[in-house]
Amino acid sequence: MSVLIAPSILSANFARLGDEVACVERAGADMIHVDVMDGHFVPNITMGVPVVAALKRVTSLPLDVHLMISEPDRYLEAFASAGAAMLTVHVEVLPHLHRTLTRIRQLGVKAGVAVNPATPLEAVSEVLTEIDHLLVMSVNPGFGGQTFIPRTLQKVAEARVQIKAAGGRATIEVDGGVDETNAGALVEAGAGILVAGASVFGTPDPAAALRSLRDAGARAVRR
Ligand code: DX5
Ligand code: ZN
Repeated sequence: MSVLIAPSILSANFARLGDEVACVERAGADMIHVDVMDGHFVPNITMGVPVVAALKRVTSLPLDVHLMISEPDRYLEAFASAGAAMLTVHVEVLPHLHRTLTRIRQLGVKAGVAVNPATPLEAVSEVLTEIDHLLVMSVNPGFGGQTFIPRTLQKVAEARVQIKAAGGRATIEVDGGVDETNAGALVEAGAGILVAGASVFGTPDPAAALRSLRDAGARAVRR
């Protein structure tokens, strides 16, 4: 299994967003992770549909849009039209999760569901065959630059077993506090996509940081 790196632009310089994305694209990023926050589901407000549309015009990388919003159903079509390649919704806000995931796939977009650190995997057990990716949050969502919660490693390993047992093909994505020190262990546990904000854009040389992270993940793939 190979590992994909998804730099999160939450820690990028928003005044130079196009340049920041071009930099990680040249350095070998596999996708761009876009954190949409509404100040309601999470205690922060970030960006929305116009930013996704603007990014779509300047990068050929898939846009991995993480919706940390209370009413994602209202915006699925708009994000799909703006150019999202992947849409991730949070199970914590969706009583009709199956309907939401079906809608995302009807829009021609890869569908994912995210679980917060305190949300048990049982919350998504009924949809494991309906998703393209399962996003395991390794921090409480809302901010970049937080500390990785170690229990995530076990959760990723459990998720891998459960996806396989269900006959699903979902890739496990891990988001929050991912860096060179935990990338290898995450890949060994079963992560296929690593999201990284501060450990890439928060460094003086994002391209070099991205390459180190990819190498750390790739070494674990080879083991
Ligand atoms: C957190 C966001 C993350 C965040 C990760 O709520 O969902 O995608 O940007 O940033 P780091 O890697 O800095 O924890
Ligand atoms: Zn995210």
